[in-house]
Amino acid sequence: MPRPIEALIHPDAIARNIARARQSSPDAKVWAVVKANAYGHGIERVFEGLRAADGIALLDLAEAERVRALGWRGPILLLEGCFEARDLELCSRLRLWHVVHCEQQIDWLAMHKTHEPHRVFLKLNSGMNRLGFTPQAFRAAWARLDALPQVDEISLMTHFSDADSERLGADGIAAQLAAFQLATRDLPGERSVCNSAATLRHAERASGDWVRAGIMIYGGVPDFPEHDATHWGLAPAMTLRSKIIGQQQLQPGDTVGYGSRFQAERPMRIGVVACGYADGYPRHAPTGTPVLVDGRRTRIVGRVSMDMMTVDLTNLPESGFGSEVTLWGRGPKGALLAIDEVAQSAGTIGYELMCAVAQRVPVSVEAHA
Ligand SMILES: Cc1ncc(COP(=O)(O)O)c(C=O)c1O
Repeated sequence: MPRPIEALIHPDAIARNIARARQSSPDAKVWAVVKANAYGHGIERVFEGLRAADGIALLDLAEAERVRALGWRGPILLLEGCFEARDLELCSRLRLWHVVHCEQQIDWLAMHKTHEPHRVFLKLNSGMNRLGFTPQAFRAAWARLDALPQVDEISLMTHFSDADSERLGADGIAAQLAAFQLATRDLPGERSVCNSAATLRHAERASGDWVRAGIMIYGGVPDFPEHDATHWGLAPAMTLRSKIIGQQQLQPGDTVGYGSRFQAERPMRIGVVACGYADGYPRHAPTGTPVLVDGRRTRIVGRVSMDMMTVDLTNLPESGFGSEVTLWGRGPKGALLAIDEVAQSAGTIGYELMCAVAQRVPVSVEAHA
């Protein structure tokens, strides 16, 4: 028997969440962002759901090959563009659209021999200061690309640093959006500026021609805890579940796990769950982190160890050995535990937890409705 832990992927949720992005931004096309192997879900596993998108955006050329091998004929966008000149050969062969964010990438294009000119997304650094041309250099980069026979269509993009919060400017995107509008004024071409947070929060002003929906298509909430999945109408695309494989009765003063980090103040019953940090569950999740047992909410107690963690069963008299434990996602009887809640308790974000599910966890895919 394998250990009872498993991840269950819900491609139907991906399709629903893509529809949700469309609802926010009805005039825009939707890129489904599938970098990092579809945020840890597995590109092949979620592919049925991804068919609801207009295009697939990713970073890795090997992932682009996998998407074409699945039969995807629509647009694929390389979000960081090429990493070296010879990547352009694959772009030509697989008809990949690619971001151009620096002069070197234009130099490579200028030397590239291709029969089919490329579609590129010219990226503006509007304030994030990661990738992209500065506003001062943007028009010259556009003119260079426009003069190349290797390029046929130039789209324009930028990426927001604060679309999920209100730290910068009035609404988090105001300064960057203004910089983008100024730098791209009068330039032809499609525009793409919104990630999930901007799609959900700012689409009325910023939607552009393409939104780039990442975390939201997996049911993660970009601006948790200000909003939750119910507020945004998002469904989880991954469930991590396991079982109780042991139980202990504690007396007041008894401690649990490594470092004796939890001490019982009254008689308690605890369950031992087959899930630990070697499965990708965050070790730093403290006592109190929510978990579902048989669909009912309780908390973890004590330190998460490599293969096990302990949960409080004191108020769940019907649960015990063999009970189903939902670490996040869909529980029995319609119960839900948002990955965002677990992430917040562990001091991280849902993005990190979904990407971190370990290789040793068996994954199955729920049949697409
Ligand atoms: C350029 C770009 N666009 C879109 C996304 C999707 O972001 P999110 O998952 O927050 O929707 C990312 C992810 O980091 C990105 O780098």
